[in-house]
Amino acid sequence: MLTEGMPARALGFKMTIREEVMSFLKKVCTLTAAVSAAAMLTTGAVSAKNFKVAVGDSAGSPQEATGKFFVAALEEKSGGEHTATLFLNGQLGSEQDTVNEAAIGTLDMSLLAINNVTPFSPTVGVFTLPYVILSLEDAETLTQGPIGQELTENTLRDAGVRIIAWTYTGFRRLTNSKKPVTTVADLQDLVIRVPKNEIMIETYKSWGINPTPMAWSETFTGLQTKVVDGQDNPYMTINAMKFYEVQNHVTNLRYIFSIEPLIVSEAVFQGLSEEDQKIILEAGQEATLKSAQFLRDSEAEIKEELTAKGMAIVDPENDEAEFIKLATDAVWPKFYDSIGGVEKMNAVLTAIGRDPVQ
Ligand code: MLT
Repeated sequence: MLTEGMPARALGFKMTIREEVMSFLKKVCTLTAAVSAAAMLTTGAVSAKNFKVAVGDSAGSPQEATGKFFVAALEEKSGGEHTATLFLNGQLGSEQDTVNEAAIGTLDMSLLAINNVTPFSPTVGVFTLPYVILSLEDAETLTQGPIGQELTENTLRDAGVRIIAWTYTGFRRLTNSKKPVTTVADLQDLVIRVPKNEIMIETYKSWGINPTPMAWSETFTGLQTKVVDGQDNPYMTINAMKFYEVQNHVTNLRYIFSIEPLIVSEAVFQGLSEEDQKIILEAGQEATLKSAQFLRDSEAEIKEELTAKGMAIVDPENDEAEFIKLATDAVWPKFYDSIGGVEKMNAVLTAIGRDPVQ
């Protein structure tokens, strides 16, 4: 059984992370189709429902905010008939495991980081490629436009889960417990935790270090026990997860703008009446718009809070130029195939007003 903590590639196993996941998904595919079909046959309108939503992060996080926006909209649009309960802080399993659970219909919904969806549906990796998304506005344009629609369809096809809302969490900032990091050279003696995501692993490799893949649910303990020295996540997540208790240095990297979808099990979705499906989709759209506003309203204040809690925040030298060049030169071309070809990369870049590659 796949677990996020299993660094297949890093350990030199034969199967890549993607191959392991794809092999697992093939096995569940038949089961998912059967669950879906059964649901469609046995249900008309589903009566009052309380959807179970796994949430990777804790209270105060943008994931929780999106979850609450979704619940409020769902209750309002269904006239109080339907609701949903958020299970925070990885109570229902690690983020990657919740994708498996939703795929087979044993979990209704999950709120998780896009980097933890990529192993199941490689084309969403375009949102994790370093230095592609350069602002919240880029993230909104991509997720809410035709690219987001296409990636939603791909995720449905590949992983049996449907993206119904997007959370915007901000740039992933590097934290560590040892020293200020402003250059690539500063990174060299640090052990950095990354999610089990090949793009992120390759990005750190492009900066000259071998990162340690570790499940999100194990990360706080890993930092506390000093199994790892650091990790990266947005200010909002660092604060909600209380990483300031075990980390004191922050580097303002901007290599990934964190996007965190709300996914619904397709087996569960297909068991709903058309009217309820519409309500779910509309509630998701409302939560998406409110999530962007939540980030705009809160991020600056949370950054100040982190300083007040003792974190020293520094900028990378030379406007991050060295990090940017190493990562984009080495990592982008490696993943063109998995995101759907260089033409997909160019579609993404042009959608946000950037020059295409090649
Ligand atoms: C991760 O680092 O695995 C995720 O970004 C964590 C999260 O969901 O916030």
